[in-house]
Amino acid sequence: MNFIGTKQLETERLILRKATFNDAIDAFNNWCSSDVVSKYVMWEKHKSLEETKLVYSKWMDAYKEMDTFRWVVLLKETKELIGSIDVSKKFLNFGTCEIGYCYGEKFWNHGSATETFKRVIEFLFEEVDADIIVGEHMSNNPASGKVMMKAGLKYETKLRCRVNDKFGEKNDLIVYSITKGEYYKEKCNG
Ligand SMILES: CC(C)(COP(=O)(O)OP(=O)(O)OC[C@H]1O[C@@H](n2cnc3c(N)ncnc32)[C@H](O)[C@@H]1OP(=O)(O)O)[C@@H](O)C(=O)NCCC(=O)NCCS
Repeated sequence: MNFIGTKQLETERLILRKATFNDAIDAFNNWCSSDVVSKYVMWEKHKSLEETKLVYSKWMDAYKEMDTFRWVVLLKETKELIGSIDVSKKFLNFGTCEIGYCYGEKFWNHGSATETFKRVIEFLFEEVDADIIVGEHMSNNPASGKVMMKAGLKYETKLRCRVNDKFGEKNDLIVYSITKGEYYKEKCNG
């Protein structure tokens, strides 16, 4: 693995860049304070802007470490902040990149999560030299599974009753992944 830190990336419609402290305001307004968005993630919705500012100041510190891969995502056209995507450090030393992402509700269903994820996959295999990229979603969140499939990941397994969702129900975790070999094979086949 090449621990080269968070590099600015672009797609046709999006800019992926390091978060700044000032992004906390838009992040709070667009997704961190949303009841709808927070239904499907492991963290609780932020109750105040101060909470988001604290998270973002920790993120700023983390950028000093070159194994930090975390971006905020902006629309090129309007410069609006629409979401964020990151790589968990849990299994990074084994070449495993576990991805998490989150987008503001008003930006859903425009293909942005898929477009971002594809670019991050390209970066992680081609520049960071990751071995495998993994995504997990709760079974009550099929849209996230759709993003994973559209980005090229394959269904791997279901971890039964692994988490409690925001409605207090036990939920399965659905696991998707793509290996380095699969990525390059797909790339060669066009
Ligand atoms: C899941 C999430 C990232 C998707 O972002 P997005 O920008 O809308 O994703 P995309 O537009 O690239 O793709 C979404 C796909 O899911 C589909 N979809 C939306 N709701 C769906 C549902 N209830 N069931 C099945 N598919 C659904 C869309 O139709 C689209 O597929 P299509 O392009 O074939 O039509 C976004 O909804 C989100 O941030 N949710 C809250 C946080 C979250 O769930 N994070 C991931 C935790 S694992």
